[in-house]
Amino acid sequence: MAARSGRIVNGCRRPTQLLLLLLLAVFLLGTLLVLYKLNHSPLIHQYDILQEYLESNPQKSSRTRSILLWSSFFGDPRWGLPADSLGPQELREDLHCPVYQCEVTNSHDFLPALDLYDAIPVPASRSPHQAYVFALMESAGETKHRLSDERDFYNLTMTNRLDSDVVWPYGQLQDIETGAVVAPSAQPHWRQPPTKGTWNDTRAEGLWQSKTKMAAWFVSHCQTLSRRENLTAALQEHLEVDVYGKCGPLSCDRGDPHCDEMLDTDYMFYLAFENSLCEDYVTEKLFGVLERHIIPVVFGGADYTRFLPPHSYIDANRFDSAHELAEHMRFVAGDLEEYTSFFWWRQHYRLVTVSPFCDLCARLHSSAQRHRSQVYGDIQSWWFNSCRFKANIRF
Ligand SMILES: *[C@@H]1O[C@H](CO)[C@@H](O)[C@H](O)[C@H]1NC(C)=O
Ligand SMILES: *[C@@H]1O[C@H](CO)[C@@H](O)[C@H](O)[C@H]1NC(C)=O
Ligand SMILES: *[C@@H]1O[C@H](CO)[C@@H](O)[C@H](O)[C@H]1NC(C)=O
Repeated sequence: MAARSGRIVNGCRRPTQLLLLLLLAVFLLGTLLVLYKLNHSPLIHQYDILQEYLESNPQKSSRTRSILLWSSFFGDPRWGLPADSLGPQELREDLHCPVYQCEVTNSHDFLPALDLYDAIPVPASRSPHQAYVFALMESAGETKHRLSDERDFYNLTMTNRLDSDVVWPYGQLQDIETGAVVAPSAQPHWRQPPTKGTWNDTRAEGLWQSKTKMAAWFVSHCQTLSRRENLTAALQEHLEVDVYGKCGPLSCDRGDPHCDEMLDTDYMFYLAFENSLCEDYVTEKLFGVLERHIIPVVFGGADYTRFLPPHSYIDANRFDSAHELAEHMRFVAGDLEEYTSFFWWRQHYRLVTVSPFCDLCARLHSSAQRHRSQVYGDIQSWWFNSCRFKANIRF
């Protein structure tokens, strides 16, 4: 048996070797042919080829790109921009875009023909050099239109998701010293918090003394996909949570500076609970309180290490149960040094918002974009698969 199978193996090996040799020969021959061609084609001065190309194909990169805001954005036809039309000068001076050779407009008759636009957020007659942009700032859970009939339609995505072509976050953190915008990002390089006992913050210490209440929650949507209302209810069995807004007994006008101050002076924690558990979905619920002297307790579908420096927040999903989360909050609130150590990062980072239109403009000018065409086949699954129903924490 052994000899027999050995012979079969040998029998098989010989043709394989032959094949290998043949391939090698063809490969060598190919190389030789290429070398031969290079050696025998007439020599051209090295810069002539490039120069000739550039002269016959004038550079398009400096041409202004036109971006048409096709639909309105939450009823806002300006998409939060300062004017109906912004040119390169406004992009440079008002939005501080590093690449600013773009025009952004919501005026449908701004250009004579639609196919002159470089990016259009919703359809019309279409030319192959145009990019249709899937631009959304709501979570997948709140998406108000069907995407199943929009297959093979969008070329670019502009959403809060970090794997979008143009990332559109609710807020960003900038390193004060280097000026670099470090987060959100898939793998931010955070500075490390100082070791315990080597750092103090007299302002935070003063405020800690005055804080007499546990947690505040400002909320207007009472029933959500993430069931955050149930998490809050479970927390309330273990510690006091004051609920402001439509879903609770307390009220405080947003925009009233007293409301914000109260977070500094009265409360230990702010519940920044998202309405759905979707990847990278971190909203103004969090960014709105980052500049206050209060520790955010976050609950959402995001990996928060992509958004916030270490030891600056408490992530509910890191706990097994509402009870354990409550215990931890109680511990942090009761220890001056522990509590104030959550604010170490403010010396190093500040909150900024960079307009996504700066990035979109840069993207339209990038040479990769100019030489590649792409389209999202199944935008629906890309968008909706980023969400889940089940939280890690039990409540
Ligand atoms: C806290 O900081 C102040 C000045 O910022 C310093 O004088 C003091 O020694 C510090 N205390 C501790 C315990 O590090
Ligand atoms: C969640 O809370 C709502 C009320 O806000 C309640 O109607 C519902 O039964 C709760 N769900 C669970 C699973 O506890
Ligand atoms: C956008 O997608 C369409 C439809 O697939 C395609 O024809 C077009 O070339 C794409 N444009 C860009 C700039 O990727």
